[in-house]
Amino acid sequence: MPLVTTEGFRLIPSNETSVSAESINDRFVNLSGDAQAEALRDKLADLDLIRIEFGSFADGRGFSLAKRLRNYGYKGHLRASGHVISDQFRYALDCGFDDVEISDELARRQPEADWVSDRATPVSYIERLRGRGSSIVAQLKEKYVSQDGVFEQQVTHVKHYTDGLFSFRVTRPSSFRFRSGEFVMIGMPNAEKPIFRAYSIASPSWDDELEFYSIKVPDGPLTEHLQHVAVGDTVLVRKKATGTLVADALTPAKRLYLLATGTGMAPFASLIRDPYVYEKFEQVVLTHSCRDHNELTYGREAVGRAKADPLVGEAAQRKLIFYPTTTRETGPRMGRITLHIETGELFRSLDLPRFDAANDRAMICGSLPMVHDTKALLEAAGLTEGSNSRPGDFVVERAFVE
Ligand code: A2P
Repeated sequence: MPLVTTEGFRLIPSNETSVSAESINDRFVNLSGDAQAEALRDKLADLDLIRIEFGSFADGRGFSLAKRLRNYGYKGHLRASGHVISDQFRYALDCGFDDVEISDELARRQPEADWVSDRATPVSYIERLRGRGSSIVAQLKEKYVSQDGVFEQQVTHVKHYTDGLFSFRVTRPSSFRFRSGEFVMIGMPNAEKPIFRAYSIASPSWDDELEFYSIKVPDGPLTEHLQHVAVGDTVLVRKKATGTLVADALTPAKRLYLLATGTGMAPFASLIRDPYVYEKFEQVVLTHSCRDHNELTYGREAVGRAKADPLVGEAAQRKLIFYPTTTRETGPRMGRITLHIETGELFRSLDLPRFDAANDRAMICGSLPMVHDTKALLEAAGLTEGSNSRPGDFVVERAFVE
Protein backbone atom coordinates (compact mmCIF):
# COMPACT_ATOMS: atom_id res chain seq x y z
CA MET A 1 0.00 0.00 0.00
CA PRO A 2 1.70 3.24 -1.07
CA LEU A 3 1.49 6.43 0.90
CA VAL A 4 0.99 9.60 -1.16
CA THR A 5 2.90 12.54 0.26
CA THR A 6 3.45 16.00 -1.17
CA GLU A 7 6.73 14.73 -2.56
CA GLY A 8 5.42 11.57 -4.15
CA PHE A 9 4.77 7.94 -3.32
CA ARG A 10 6.58 6.28 -0.46
CA LEU A 11 6.19 3.16 1.63
CA ILE A 12 4.43 3.27 4.97
CA PRO A 13 7.00 3.20 7.78
CA SER A 14 6.95 -0.21 9.45
CA ASN A 15 6.16 1.22 12.89
CA GLU A 16 2.96 2.69 11.46
CA THR A 17 1.66 -0.40 9.69
CA SER A 18 0.49 -1.99 12.91
CA VAL A 19 -2.44 0.43 13.07
CA SER A 20 -5.36 -1.81 12.31
CA ALA A 21 -8.95 -0.73 11.74
CA GLU A 22 -10.65 0.75 14.80
CA SER A 23 -7.60 -0.01 16.89
CA ILE A 24 -6.44 2.49 19.41
CA ASN A 25 -3.22 2.50 21.33
CA ASP A 26 -1.33 5.15 23.18
CA ARG A 27 -0.06 7.06 20.18
CA PHE A 28 -2.06 5.93 17.10
CA VAL A 29 -5.77 6.15 16.48
CA ASN A 30 -7.91 4.87 13.65
CA LEU A 31 -11.19 6.67 12.97
CA SER A 32 -14.04 6.29 10.54
CA GLY A 33 -15.45 9.40 8.84
CA ASP A 34 -18.44 9.55 11.19
CA ALA A 35 -16.31 9.67 14.35
CA GLN A 36 -16.84 12.61 16.71
CA ALA A 37 -13.82 14.89 16.98
CA GLU A 38 -15.14 16.16 20.32
CA ALA A 39 -14.69 12.71 21.91
CA LEU A 40 -10.95 12.85 21.22
CA ARG A 41 -10.42 16.45 22.16
CA ASP A 42 -8.67 15.81 25.49
CA LYS A 43 -6.41 13.13 24.04
CA LEU A 44 -5.15 15.04 21.00
CA ALA A 45 -1.97 16.34 22.59
CA ASP A 46 -0.83 12.76 23.30
CA LEU A 47 -1.33 11.37 19.82
CA ASP A 48 1.31 11.00 17.10
CA LEU A 49 -0.85 9.67 14.31
CA ILE A 50 -4.55 9.79 13.49
CA ARG A 51 -5.70 7.78 10.50
CA ILE A 52 -9.12 8.54 9.05
CA GLU A 53 -10.82 5.92 6.88
CA PHE A 54 -12.69 7.00 3.74
CA GLY A 55 -15.35 4.42 2.93
CA SER A 56 -16.22 5.80 -0.52
CA PHE A 57 -15.07 8.57 -2.86
CA ALA A 58 -18.37 10.38 -2.41
CA ASP A 59 -18.22 10.38 1.39
CA GLY A 60 -16.59 13.64 2.45
CA ARG A 61 -17.10 13.35 6.19
CA GLY A 62 -13.45 12.47 6.73
CA PHE A 63 -12.45 15.88 5.37
CA SER A 64 -14.64 17.71 7.89
CA LEU A 65 -13.38 15.48 10.68
CA ALA A 66 -9.79 16.37 9.77
CA LYS A 67 -10.61 20.09 9.78
CA ARG A 68 -12.22 19.81 13.19
CA LEU A 69 -9.27 17.92 14.66
CA ARG A 70 -6.90 20.62 13.39
CA ASN A 71 -9.23 23.32 14.74
CA TYR A 72 -9.06 21.61 18.11
CA GLY A 73 -5.30 22.01 17.98
CA TYR A 74 -4.15 18.55 16.87
CA LYS A 75 -0.56 18.94 15.67
CA GLY A 76 0.42 15.32 15.08
CA HIS A 77 0.34 13.39 11.84
CA LEU A 78 -2.99 13.11 10.06
CA ARG A 79 -3.45 10.40 7.45
CA ALA A 80 -6.35 9.74 5.09
CA SER A 81 -6.84 6.13 4.17
CA GLY A 82 -8.90 4.36 1.53
CA HIS A 83 -11.14 5.94 -1.04
CA VAL A 84 -9.45 9.23 -1.82
CA ILE A 85 -8.57 10.05 -5.44
CA SER A 86 -5.89 12.32 -6.87
CA ASP A 87 -8.42 15.12 -7.62
CA GLN A 88 -9.13 15.24 -3.89
CA PHE A 89 -5.49 15.39 -2.82
CA ARG A 90 -5.18 19.15 -2.72
CA TYR A 91 -8.40 19.43 -0.74
CA ALA A 92 -7.17 16.75 1.66
CA LEU A 93 -4.04 18.80 2.31
CA ASP A 94 -6.17 21.92 2.79
CA CYS A 95 -8.20 20.11 5.43
CA GLY A 96 -5.04 19.32 7.37
CA PHE A 97 -4.05 15.86 6.15
CA ASP A 98 -0.33 15.15 5.76
CA ASP A 99 -0.63 12.16 3.47
CA VAL A 100 -3.00 9.63 1.96
CA GLU A 101 -2.75 5.86 2.10
CA ILE A 102 -4.10 4.31 -1.10
CA SER A 103 -4.52 0.79 -2.44
CA ASP A 104 -2.05 -0.78 -4.87
CA GLU A 105 -4.88 -0.92 -7.39
CA LEU A 106 -5.55 2.84 -7.17
CA ALA A 107 -1.81 3.54 -7.37
CA ARG A 108 -1.75 1.66 -10.68
CA ARG A 109 -4.72 3.61 -12.04
CA GLN A 110 -3.52 6.96 -10.74
CA PRO A 111 0.28 6.92 -10.79
CA GLU A 112 2.47 9.28 -8.81
CA ALA A 113 2.40 12.04 -11.46
CA ASP A 114 -1.39 12.35 -11.07
CA TRP A 115 -0.99 13.25 -7.43
CA VAL A 116 2.09 15.40 -7.18
CA SER A 117 2.11 17.32 -10.42
CA ASP A 118 1.48 21.05 -10.24
CA ARG A 119 -1.92 20.41 -8.69
CA ALA A 120 -0.61 19.39 -5.28
CA THR A 121 0.48 21.80 -2.58
CA PRO A 122 4.14 20.95 -2.18
CA VAL A 123 4.23 22.05 1.45
CA SER A 124 2.46 19.77 3.89
CA TYR A 125 0.27 21.02 6.67
CA ILE A 126 2.80 20.21 9.35
CA GLU A 127 5.65 21.78 7.43
CA ARG A 128 3.58 24.95 7.08
CA LEU A 129 2.70 24.83 10.75
CA ARG A 130 6.31 24.51 11.74
CA GLY A 131 7.45 27.08 9.22
CA ARG A 132 9.52 24.57 7.29
CA GLY A 133 9.24 23.48 3.71
CA SER A 134 11.60 26.11 2.38
CA SER A 135 13.58 23.52 0.42
CA ILE A 136 10.38 22.47 -1.28
CA VAL A 137 9.28 26.03 -1.86
CA ALA A 138 12.65 26.74 -3.45
CA GLN A 139 11.91 24.16 -6.10
CA LEU A 140 8.87 26.03 -7.26
CA LYS A 141 8.88 27.87 -10.52
CA GLU A 142 6.88 30.81 -9.29
CA LYS A 143 8.65 33.97 -8.26
CA TYR A 144 7.86 35.55 -4.95
CA VAL A 145 8.18 39.30 -4.66
CA SER A 146 8.94 39.36 -0.98
CA GLN A 147 9.37 43.10 -0.50
CA ASP A 148 5.72 43.74 -1.36
CA GLY A 149 4.22 40.54 -0.05
CA VAL A 150 2.95 39.86 -3.54
CA PHE A 151 3.01 36.73 -5.65
CA GLU A 152 3.74 37.00 -9.37
CA GLN A 153 1.51 34.47 -11.08
CA GLN A 154 1.12 33.41 -14.69
CA VAL A 155 -2.16 33.58 -16.57
CA THR A 156 -3.19 30.10 -17.74
CA HIS A 157 -6.59 30.76 -19.29
CA VAL A 158 -8.73 33.71 -20.43
CA LYS A 159 -12.35 33.69 -21.58
CA HIS A 160 -14.41 36.66 -22.73
CA TYR A 161 -18.15 36.33 -22.18
CA THR A 162 -19.51 39.66 -23.39
CA ASP A 163 -18.06 43.05 -24.28
CA GLY A 164 -18.07 43.82 -20.58
CA LEU A 165 -17.30 40.50 -18.84
CA PHE A 166 -14.40 38.06 -18.82
CA SER A 167 -12.79 35.45 -16.61
CA PHE A 168 -9.20 34.33 -16.26
CA ARG A 169 -7.18 31.83 -14.32
CA VAL A 170 -3.67 32.15 -12.90
CA THR A 171 -1.26 29.66 -11.35
CA ARG A 172 -1.68 29.33 -7.60
CA PRO A 173 1.18 30.20 -5.26
CA SER A 174 1.92 27.01 -3.37
CA SER A 175 1.78 28.72 0.00
CA PHE A 176 -1.31 30.81 -0.76
CA ARG A 177 -4.20 29.80 1.49
CA PHE A 178 -7.82 30.87 1.33
CA ARG A 179 -11.30 29.69 2.21
CA SER A 180 -13.81 29.22 -0.58
CA GLY A 181 -15.76 32.48 -1.00
CA GLU A 182 -12.95 34.83 0.06
CA PHE A 183 -11.41 37.66 -1.96
CA VAL A 184 -7.85 38.84 -2.55
CA MET A 185 -6.21 41.97 -3.95
CA ILE A 186 -4.84 41.59 -7.47
CA GLY A 187 -2.91 43.93 -9.75
CA MET A 188 -0.84 44.16 -12.93
CA PRO A 189 2.92 44.67 -13.02
CA ASN A 190 2.54 47.59 -15.43
CA ALA A 191 3.62 50.46 -13.22
CA GLU A 192 6.18 51.20 -10.56
CA LYS A 193 3.36 51.30 -8.05
CA PRO A 194 0.81 48.80 -9.34
CA ILE A 195 -2.86 49.41 -8.65
CA PHE A 196 -4.56 46.64 -6.69
CA ARG A 197 -8.28 45.87 -6.56
CA ALA A 198 -10.24 43.34 -4.53
CA TYR A 199 -11.39 40.30 -6.49
CA SER A 200 -13.39 37.38 -5.24
CA ILE A 201 -11.65 34.10 -5.94
CA ALA A 202 -14.02 32.12 -8.14
CA SER A 203 -12.26 28.77 -7.78
CA PRO A 204 -12.61 26.58 -4.68
CA SER A 205 -9.99 26.40 -1.94
CA TRP A 206 -8.69 23.04 -3.12
CA ASP A 207 -8.10 24.05 -6.75
CA ASP A 208 -4.59 24.22 -8.18
CA GLU A 209 -5.30 27.52 -9.98
CA LEU A 210 -7.01 30.77 -9.01
CA GLU A 211 -9.94 31.93 -11.11
CA PHE A 212 -11.35 35.46 -11.27
CA TYR A 213 -14.44 36.87 -12.95
CA SER A 214 -14.34 40.52 -13.89
CA ILE A 215 -16.17 43.34 -15.55
CA LYS A 216 -14.33 45.56 -18.03
CA VAL A 217 -14.62 49.09 -16.82
CA PRO A 218 -13.87 51.64 -19.58
CA ASP A 219 -10.91 53.67 -18.31
CA GLY A 220 -10.92 51.64 -15.08
CA PRO A 221 -7.38 51.93 -13.69
CA LEU A 222 -6.96 48.16 -13.36
CA THR A 223 -9.45 46.53 -15.72
CA GLU A 224 -8.46 48.63 -18.72
CA HIS A 225 -5.19 46.65 -18.60
CA LEU A 226 -6.48 43.44 -17.04
CA GLN A 227 -9.06 42.88 -19.79
CA HIS A 228 -6.20 42.46 -22.29
CA VAL A 229 -4.31 39.75 -20.37
CA ALA A 230 -3.29 36.70 -22.35
CA VAL A 231 -2.02 33.27 -21.40
CA GLY A 232 1.54 33.58 -20.10
CA ASP A 233 1.16 37.15 -18.82
CA THR A 234 1.91 37.99 -15.20
CA VAL A 235 -0.72 39.02 -12.66
CA LEU A 236 0.12 40.09 -9.11
CA VAL A 237 -1.72 38.46 -6.23
CA ARG A 238 -1.42 39.80 -2.69
CA LYS A 239 -0.64 37.28 -0.01
CA LYS A 240 -3.70 37.51 2.19
CA ALA A 241 -7.23 36.45 1.30
CA THR A 242 -10.17 37.51 3.42
CA GLY A 243 -13.95 37.96 3.32
CA THR A 244 -17.28 37.17 4.94
CA LEU A 245 -18.86 34.92 2.31
CA VAL A 246 -17.53 31.77 3.92
CA ALA A 247 -19.49 28.76 5.15
CA ASP A 248 -18.08 29.13 8.66
CA ALA A 249 -19.71 32.57 9.07
CA LEU A 250 -23.13 30.90 8.98
CA THR A 251 -24.68 28.78 11.71
CA PRO A 252 -25.87 25.31 10.65
CA ALA A 253 -29.29 24.99 8.99
CA LYS A 254 -31.07 23.02 6.32
CA ARG A 255 -30.81 25.24 3.27
CA LEU A 256 -28.33 27.76 1.87
CA TYR A 257 -29.38 30.55 -0.50
CA LEU A 258 -26.60 32.15 -2.56
CA LEU A 259 -28.05 35.36 -4.00
CA ALA A 260 -25.96 37.02 -6.73
CA THR A 261 -26.23 39.74 -9.32
CA GLY A 262 -23.64 40.44 -12.04
CA THR A 263 -20.06 39.56 -11.08
CA GLY A 264 -21.35 38.86 -7.57
CA MET A 265 -21.51 35.33 -8.93
CA ALA A 266 -17.72 34.89 -8.46
CA PRO A 267 -17.54 33.88 -4.77
CA PHE A 268 -20.46 31.52 -5.28
CA ALA A 269 -18.70 29.83 -8.22
CA SER A 270 -16.08 28.98 -5.61
CA LEU A 271 -18.50 27.86 -2.90
CA ILE A 272 -20.57 25.56 -5.11
CA ARG A 273 -17.44 23.50 -5.73
CA ASP A 274 -16.52 23.17 -2.07
CA PRO A 275 -17.46 19.83 -0.46
CA TYR A 276 -17.83 21.52 2.92
CA VAL A 277 -20.86 23.47 1.66
CA TYR A 278 -22.66 20.26 0.73
CA GLU A 279 -21.77 18.65 4.03
CA LYS A 280 -23.14 21.59 5.93
CA PHE A 281 -26.38 22.10 3.97
CA GLU A 282 -29.00 19.73 2.61
CA GLN A 283 -29.88 22.07 -0.22
CA VAL A 284 -28.10 24.95 -1.96
CA VAL A 285 -30.16 27.45 -4.00
CA LEU A 286 -28.07 29.70 -6.23
CA THR A 287 -29.83 32.69 -7.80
CA HIS A 288 -28.17 34.88 -10.41
CA SER A 289 -29.80 37.98 -11.88
CA CYS A 290 -28.35 39.92 -14.78
CA ARG A 291 -29.66 42.35 -17.33
CA ASP A 292 -29.22 40.01 -20.34
CA HIS A 293 -28.98 36.31 -21.04
CA ASN A 294 -25.36 36.52 -22.20
CA GLU A 295 -24.40 37.78 -18.77
CA LEU A 296 -25.76 34.60 -17.22
CA THR A 297 -23.35 32.35 -19.12
CA TYR A 298 -20.53 32.37 -16.58
CA GLY A 299 -22.86 31.31 -13.75
CA ARG A 300 -24.44 28.63 -15.88
CA GLU A 301 -21.00 27.24 -16.69
CA ALA A 302 -19.98 27.34 -13.03
CA VAL A 303 -23.04 25.27 -12.13
CA GLY A 304 -22.22 22.81 -14.93
CA ARG A 305 -18.66 22.49 -13.68
CA ALA A 306 -19.83 21.87 -10.12
CA LYS A 307 -22.18 19.12 -11.27
CA ALA A 308 -19.42 17.48 -13.33
CA ASP A 309 -16.75 17.89 -10.67
CA PRO A 310 -15.12 14.65 -9.45
CA LEU A 311 -15.03 15.98 -5.89
CA VAL A 312 -18.50 17.53 -5.47
CA GLY A 313 -20.39 16.48 -8.63
CA GLU A 314 -22.52 13.84 -7.00
CA ALA A 315 -23.51 16.12 -4.11
CA ALA A 316 -24.10 19.10 -6.45
CA GLN A 317 -26.40 17.05 -8.65
CA ARG A 318 -28.53 16.17 -5.65
CA LYS A 319 -28.42 19.44 -3.74
CA LEU A 320 -27.69 22.40 -6.02
CA ILE A 321 -30.57 24.34 -7.61
CA PHE A 322 -29.85 27.16 -10.06
CA TYR A 323 -32.34 30.03 -10.44
CA PRO A 324 -31.24 32.56 -13.09
CA THR A 325 -33.27 35.64 -13.99
CA THR A 326 -32.89 38.44 -16.52
CA THR A 327 -34.07 41.93 -15.73
CA ARG A 328 -33.97 43.65 -19.12
CA GLU A 329 -33.88 41.01 -21.84
CA THR A 330 -37.10 39.08 -22.28
CA GLY A 331 -36.86 35.46 -21.20
CA PRO A 332 -38.53 32.61 -19.35
CA ARG A 333 -37.84 34.08 -15.92
CA MET A 334 -37.70 37.84 -15.65
CA GLY A 335 -37.29 40.36 -12.87
CA ARG A 336 -34.99 41.30 -10.01
CA ILE A 337 -34.43 38.65 -7.37
CA THR A 338 -35.87 41.01 -4.78
CA LEU A 339 -39.16 40.98 -6.69
CA HIS A 340 -39.12 37.18 -6.92
CA ILE A 341 -38.63 37.01 -3.14
CA GLU A 342 -41.30 39.59 -2.36
CA THR A 343 -43.94 38.06 -4.61
CA GLY A 344 -43.04 34.54 -3.47
CA GLU A 345 -42.33 33.52 -7.08
CA LEU A 346 -38.90 32.14 -6.10
CA PHE A 347 -40.40 29.82 -3.51
CA ARG A 348 -43.43 28.83 -5.56
CA SER A 349 -41.44 27.81 -8.60
CA LEU A 350 -38.95 25.77 -6.54
CA ASP A 351 -41.67 24.38 -4.29
CA LEU A 352 -39.90 25.67 -1.20
CA PRO A 353 -41.24 27.45 1.88
CA ARG A 354 -40.56 31.18 2.30
CA PHE A 355 -37.42 32.24 4.17
CA ASP A 356 -37.40 31.30 7.81
CA ALA A 357 -34.60 31.62 10.33
CA ALA A 358 -34.86 28.04 11.57
CA ASN A 359 -34.11 26.43 8.21
CA ASP A 360 -32.56 28.99 5.90
CA ARG A 361 -29.17 30.65 5.65
CA ALA A 362 -28.10 33.08 2.94
CA MET A 363 -25.19 34.88 1.35
CA ILE A 364 -25.66 38.00 -0.75
CA CYS A 365 -23.23 39.39 -3.33
CA GLY A 366 -24.06 42.13 -5.83
CA SER A 367 -24.18 45.89 -6.25
CA LEU A 368 -24.60 48.08 -3.18
CA PRO A 369 -28.34 48.74 -3.78
CA MET A 370 -28.97 45.04 -4.42
CA VAL A 371 -27.18 44.04 -1.21
CA HIS A 372 -29.14 46.67 0.71
CA ASP A 373 -32.55 45.63 -0.64
CA THR A 374 -31.98 41.88 -0.38
CA LYS A 375 -30.65 42.21 3.14
CA ALA A 376 -33.82 44.08 4.16
CA LEU A 377 -35.95 41.19 2.87
CA LEU A 378 -33.93 38.63 4.86
CA GLU A 379 -34.17 40.74 7.98
CA ALA A 380 -37.91 41.14 7.51
CA ALA A 381 -38.10 37.32 7.48
CA GLY A 382 -36.33 37.23 10.86
CA LEU A 383 -32.80 36.34 9.75
CA THR A 384 -29.88 38.12 11.43
CA GLU A 385 -26.56 39.06 9.90
CA GLY A 386 -23.45 37.09 10.87
CA SER A 387 -19.71 37.52 10.47
CA ASN A 388 -16.51 35.51 10.80
CA SER A 389 -16.31 36.26 14.51
CA ARG A 390 -20.06 35.86 15.14
CA PRO A 391 -21.64 33.35 12.77
CA GLY A 392 -25.27 34.16 11.97
CA ASP A 393 -28.13 33.53 9.53
CA PHE A 394 -26.79 35.48 6.55
CA VAL A 395 -23.68 37.31 5.36
CA VAL A 396 -23.18 39.96 2.69
CA GLU A 397 -20.46 41.33 0.48
CA ARG A 398 -20.62 43.95 -2.21
CA ALA A 399 -19.43 42.70 -5.61
CA PHE A 400 -16.23 44.58 -6.23
CA VAL A 401 -16.20 47.16 -9.00
CA GLU A 402 -13.76 49.87 -9.84
P1 A2P B 1 -31.96 46.05 -13.29
O1 A2P B 1 -31.68 45.69 -14.71
O2 A2P B 1 -33.43 46.10 -12.99
O3 A2P B 1 -31.25 47.28 -12.82
P2 A2P B 1 -25.89 46.03 -12.82
O4 A2P B 1 -25.51 45.49 -14.16
O5 A2P B 1 -26.46 47.39 -12.83
O6 A2P B 1 -24.82 45.83 -11.78
O7 A2P B 1 -27.07 45.09 -12.32
C1 A2P B 1 -26.95 43.71 -12.28
C2 A2P B 1 -28.30 43.13 -12.00
O8 A2P B 1 -28.68 43.52 -10.66
C3 A2P B 1 -29.35 43.65 -12.92
O9 A2P B 1 -30.14 42.58 -13.33
C4 A2P B 1 -30.09 44.65 -12.06
O10 A2P B 1 -31.44 44.81 -12.40
C5 A2P B 1 -29.98 44.02 -10.71
N1 A2P B 1 -30.20 45.02 -9.64
C6 A2P B 1 -29.77 46.28 -9.58
N2 A2P B 1 -30.17 46.89 -8.46
C7 A2P B 1 -30.86 45.97 -7.76
C8 A2P B 1 -31.53 45.99 -6.51
N3 A2P B 1 -31.56 47.08 -5.75
N4 A2P B 1 -32.14 44.86 -6.11
C9 A2P B 1 -32.12 43.75 -6.85
N5 A2P B 1 -31.51 43.66 -8.05
C10 A2P B 1 -30.89 44.76 -8.52
